[in-house]
Amino acid sequence: MTTAHQQAARRVTYQLETLWDYDYEPTHQELDMLYETAKKNQWNGSTAIDWSRPVGSEGAVLNVQVAFAGTSFFGRLTPEEQKEVEIRVSAWRLSQFLHGEQGALVVCGQLVNSIPELDAKLYASTQVVDEGRHVEVFERYVKKLHKIYPVDPLLKSVLDEILATNLWELKLLGMQMIVEGLAIAAFNVMRRQTADPTLSQLLDYVLQDEGRHVNFGYFALKRSIPEMAAPKREFLEDFTYKVCDLLYARDERTGFRSIQDVWNEMGWDGEKIWRETVKTSQTTKAFNSFLFQENLMPRLVRLGLISDRIAPRYREIGLMA
Ligand SMILES: [Fe+2]
Ligand SMILES: [Fe+2]
Repeated sequence: MTTAHQQAARRVTYQLETLWDYDYEPTHQELDMLYETAKKNQWNGSTAIDWSRPVGSEGAVLNVQVAFAGTSFFGRLTPEEQKEVEIRVSAWRLSQFLHGEQGALVVCGQLVNSIPELDAKLYASTQVVDEGRHVEVFERYVKKLHKIYPVDPLLKSVLDEILATNLWELKLLGMQMIVEGLAIAAFNVMRRQTADPTLSQLLDYVLQDEGRHVNFGYFALKRSIPEMAAPKREFLEDFTYKVCDLLYARDERTGFRSIQDVWNEMGWDGEKIWRETVKTSQTTKAFNSFLFQENLMPRLVRLGLISDRIAPRYREIGLMA
């Protein structure tokens, strides 16, 4: 990639309206409670987490044994190679969450400007601080573990689309509902699997905040979606389907493929291993169906975003019965 390309990839150009609210009237009762909780539950990433422990040596960071069960390549590796794969794959995965956290930080900054009601702006201001802290702790952890891998192109394209839209409803839907909804489910799985005490502690703190963020999106959208004109609501439905289709990893067309970088770094055929893992890994499939079917889809249904018009397309990709 040339420097000019790199610079272009860092920039997202958009036009966004900044709205003032001079009414100073509360609009969302639920947001008032959420705002109070957010102020009470602030924590300091430097002191809340014990950074003095070694990282990656006290127990498996993320359980790659389970993740690559069923593939032929993983069982043939020596224990040392398996440990190296564990560290690198964990660093690659956690790097994607780090980039996602930075995405949340910049999207929330936009929401402070574009969301119409003042109480929603105040709540969004607390989320800006939360996401700044998440970037801080993930960055610190991943650097301690190994190194930061580049953002996956698919993740980058989804985050850029959320940043570039001028609709605040689409920002909330894309970030607070879809990206953060999936991230919470993934953090819960990682929290159960990890044997690394620093990562456990980090995830416990981050999860406290993420629950509020998804509720924020849900409360605000629950109010606005029923009042929306049909073309706008259909636009949101189409966007939701498109993102679910791409992120619901089930074949070579979907999901993140930059994990190939890890295999190539190890001196192996990244493309071949990636194809094998996409085809055979039952755990990845189970993980994805947990993320989407048990966590995301019920919320989208409650918001009224799975209309009769769009439901058949979810059935085609296996996200609805
Ligand atoms: Fe976050
Ligand atoms: Fe968040």
